[in-house]
Amino acid sequence: MKNGLEDVVAAETQLSHVNGEAGQLIIRGVSLDRLVEYARFEDVVTLLFKGLLGHVAGTVELGRRLGQKRAEVFTHVLAIDDALLQLPPVDIMRALMARLPDGDDLDTALLLLAAPAVFLPAVLRLKRGQAPVAPTPALSHAADILAMLGAAMPNSREVAALDAYLVTISDHGLNASTFASRVVASTKAGLTSSVLAAISALKGPLHGGAPGPVLDMLDAIGSAENAQTWLVQALDHGERLMGFGHRVYRVRDPRADALKAALQQLAAGDLAYRDRIQLAEAVEQSALSILKVRKPDRPLDVNVEFYTALLLDALRFPRDAFTGVFAIGRMVGWLAHAREQALEGRLIRPRSHYVGPLPQQAA
Ligand code: COA
Repeated sequence: MKNGLEDVVAAETQLSHVNGEAGQLIIRGVSLDRLVEYARFEDVVTLLFKGLLGHVAGTVELGRRLGQKRAEVFTHVLAIDDALLQLPPVDIMRALMARLPDGDDLDTALLLLAAPAVFLPAVLRLKRGQAPVAPTPALSHAADILAMLGAAMPNSREVAALDAYLVTISDHGLNASTFASRVVASTKAGLTSSVLAAISALKGPLHGGAPGPVLDMLDAIGSAENAQTWLVQALDHGERLMGFGHRVYRVRDPRADALKAALQQLAAGDLAYRDRIQLAEAVEQSALSILKVRKPDRPLDVNVEFYTALLLDALRFPRDAFTGVFAIGRMVGWLAHAREQALEGRLIRPRSHYVGPLPQQAA
């Protein structure tokens, strides 16, 4: 038995490959560092859906249909009532998505892709007492998300930064939420059921719930001089440093560099943010040297969540919405994996090793 299924290969996939020793992420044959250079979110959707979800004539056509789906999803925003609004944003998104019909086709997939992108901005605005902003189908997915958040004219640097984020986190091998999506898909339950399982797995702090706490940590540390003492104390109290460590990577997570580059481009010329990046770099260096001494047998490096926190903060997402933004980007991976599993895989049904008491043997 492998606790946590560590190193167990549980699926064959053409979608993405995480090379933990080399620190490389390949998405359908393209290395992440290349992909973020040219791709927008719509390009990655086209790439990941290819051959799995109907026929899409190309990125432009996909963008047009995705825009229409955002408009369709917006009608569901009316279902957000006061009781629902008391929940954290990702829980509200999950509840709203559970109202969508199940299915296996491209239409369902595009509806599910559109759903978190429309629900999250609407929820954030309603929580602030503001009316939701309707989508503009002609905009790109990233630009429309920012427009629905309330940016009258989303600025191109912000759109590029959000696009870079969505592309970077679009897919990542058999992580916990993607595995959850594949388990449900293996029963042929449908795409909506699959991604609902995935979003539930995502919200935990060991997976997609880490970036909010990363920002809390940076705030608590406050200055570079304070980093060493603060980090040592946290580890002495048995805490984990959020934004560090990974099940598969034994070197730096390549997504951290992609997101740091996006952040630097976004924040170029912004003095307040330059200070923030310098603090993050100081914390990163201190944490890496402390972890090296404390865990000599377990290489622990920066993971995706560290610079996610800074990038999403710079884009003015509140920290309790970070997991929801992650869901907007990862939705494409969940859908592609669910479809791949349903088409090519078998029912996922492992066995357990019983360690409980046995019934009394009859004398
Ligand atoms: N801070 C301090 N110690 C850490 C650590 C961290 N961020 N991540 C792992 N470790 C330590 C563990 O305490 C453990 O030490 P031990 O063997 O002395 O008990 C060892 O490294 C192995 O940890 P383990 O929990 O077996 O690794 P995992 O593969 O199950 O965990 C994560 C992977 C991501 C869950 C883990 O690194 C973590 O909790 N990171 C912080 C949360 C985070 O950033 N999540 C986002 C992931 S993208």
